[in-house]
Amino acid sequence: MLECRFDLRNAVRRDLDQPEHAYFDFLPVMSPDFIDPVTSVRSPCRPAPALGAKLGLRHLWLKDESRQPTGTTKDRLASVVLAVFRQFGIKEWVTSSTGNTATALAAAVRRDPTMRAHFFCSEDFVADHQLETDDRISLHVVRGGYADASRVARKFAAEREIVWEGGFFNWARREGLKIAYLEAFDEMKEQPDVVVQAISSGMGVMAARKGAEEYLATGRIGSVPRFLMVQQDTCAPMADAWRSGREELTDEDVIERPNGLARAILLGDGRDSYPYMRDIAHATGGGIVSVSQTEMTEAREMLRELEGLDVCHSAAATIAALRNEVQADRIGADEVVLANLTGRTRH
Ligand SMILES: Cc1ncc(COP(=O)(O)O)c(C=O)c1O
Repeated sequence: MLECRFDLRNAVRRDLDQPEHAYFDFLPVMSPDFIDPVTSVRSPCRPAPALGAKLGLRHLWLKDESRQPTGTTKDRLASVVLAVFRQFGIKEWVTSSTGNTATALAAAVRRDPTMRAHFFCSEDFVADHQLETDDRISLHVVRGGYADASRVARKFAAEREIVWEGGFFNWARREGLKIAYLEAFDEMKEQPDVVVQAISSGMGVMAARKGAEEYLATGRIGSVPRFLMVQQDTCAPMADAWRSGREELTDEDVIERPNGLARAILLGDGRDSYPYMRDIAHATGGGIVSVSQTEMTEAREMLRELEGLDVCHSAAATIAALRNEVQADRIGADEVVLANLTGRTRH
């Protein structure tokens, strides 16, 4: 795992609307010219008193990443990944995804006529990809599950000597995802004790932790929050391993063709990233939990009724997890909680 480190002594947040410009000092981008001005937007972060009261939380905050142009927080990573590629002169690359990341990256590629990208996806996830293909953007559908698509994509990249985008291990992704959290920490009137997000590989939470540590180092927050990571019961290898205190996932933990309502987090093979998630849960006093299909559906309904927000099941999983954690007394009524609602459905 590579990670960017910056000298943050003179880092400032600039009073600019475009998130990458506002947080430029916290990004691994050498010139503002590499940044496309419309790939991502600043998203709202606000208290949710009605939903909070229902859950038993007096200080619940919601970050609404469903407002991003392609409907998910993945526009954050698309913006910084493309900026970094332009900076390094990378003009052609290969990646694979369950849908939201590819949709966001493809929209960003569409706006840069010098860029070319090859997307690979499992036959199970074709409907989750919304991208227009042409001579610069291709979508290769692979027979089999997500792991098969990823394997075929890497082979394609190696054989043609095209850059493999890197997925979870692409540090530029995390630097982009981090911005959602820096915005949230700046907008919140109170510092979060608990941060909750749905995880697939977990790179969003890796990003959140890095953002929190950078804000701790620069005195903007006083402590790193506990990170609560959420999976769904039909695809919860990391939550199962965390519950039984295991340090790694093995071949037996891999779910070949997972299914479930929260489609964006249907990653059946968490072997590469689990040790990092375990470390975050362990080091911050957080945890990795799973929620049922019914709990997610109920949570989605609560968000709609009480807060007027129409988000996807993956985003709603955070609220389902909070309800369970409060009921089990693992989160106190007076704790300040930030839930990242990572997306909506695009259909
Ligand atoms: C809406 C949404 N939420 C959460 C995630 C979690 O992703 P990760 O844990 O890989 O950052 C994803 C990933 O595709 C997503 O699309």
